[in-house]
Amino acid sequence: MKIGILTSGGDCPGLNAVIRGAVLKGIAVHGQEFVGYKDGWRGVVEGDIIDLPRTMVRGIAKQGGTILGTSRTNPFEHGGGPEVIKGHMDRLGIDAIIAIGGEGTLAAARRLTDAGLRIVGVPKTVDNDLDATDYTFGFDTAVEIATEAIDRLRTTGESHHRCMIAEVMGRHVGWIALHSGMASGAHAILIPEQKVTMDQVAHWVQLAHDRGRAPLVVVAEGFVLEGMAAPHSERGLDTFGRPRLGGIAEQLAPEIEARTGIETRATILGHIQRGGVPTAFDRVLATRLGMAAIDSVVEGRWGTMVSLHGTEIAHVGFEEALGRLKTVPQHRYDEAAVLFG
Ligand code: F6P
Repeated sequence: MKIGILTSGGDCPGLNAVIRGAVLKGIAVHGQEFVGYKDGWRGVVEGDIIDLPRTMVRGIAKQGGTILGTSRTNPFEHGGGPEVIKGHMDRLGIDAIIAIGGEGTLAAARRLTDAGLRIVGVPKTVDNDLDATDYTFGFDTAVEIATEAIDRLRTTGESHHRCMIAEVMGRHVGWIALHSGMASGAHAILIPEQKVTMDQVAHWVQLAHDRGRAPLVVVAEGFVLEGMAAPHSERGLDTFGRPRLGGIAEQLAPEIEARTGIETRATILGHIQRGGVPTAFDRVLATRLGMAAIDSVVEGRWGTMVSLHGTEIAHVGFEEALGRLKTVPQHRYDEAAVLFG
């Protein structure tokens, strides 16, 4: 059996570990053959592949990014669709596809499976916002990077008696902000799921300052201040028609200064959170998911994705996995908020 693997959507530490886990198990246990589609669905739609022998994947678990490249191409656009993809699969002798990606990638995989293609999914997002899996690989690495960066902001903030704001990723949910904020001892954590007024933020900042600390605010990029336009809506679209994200930290800084009189600096961590080597936790999780995807292919579980339930790998249908965001529950925010100010 010949299997095509693709990585699609925003990259994420651990993608290479999934590829390695799948290829090594597939070759060793089932004698399968592998090819990689280049740049996500673009490679699938254009039949653009590279061979993935054992030698290509040995030693890549620790590499950031993806050896296959990625894109945000939608397979139903740019002349794609199930017939075109099936045509390429037949021509290239590919029997099944493993699609590694987030909500958008898996939604496309679901439509293609409904049209008869043999696809299994592996969930991926640093944001950790997919509902049908307890953790996504990449999240732990992003939290680790953010925590280290916030620790560094703290010491420069303390030297200058400034308030420091760290903006972390999280377009729809605040998992990275919650975990990195808790780990670094933030005096306020602001996430999209929670409405917080500017007066409340200023209160937390002032409390920390009054106790002789350099106030530290961690904010998720998707957080919107009550009564204010989301900063990214004002930043417009990029050349490819996607919203330019980021900027809430810069919106908060002058507001905090105006209310407290404390000099404030904003830092947007951005794509640093997605780069570099994955943590050991992410490498292990990604490897297990890649290996489990091979089980799904062998068992013909088309239209399903592998996921983490507790400490075990499970298989869930795309219909169960998609369409629901895993948001930060109220009790998790309340737990963190005890430490604010
Ligand atoms: O979905 C993951 C994510 O990292 C978001 O947190 C972030 O908003 C987005 O991707 C950035 O996307 P891009 O790499 O296309 O700028």
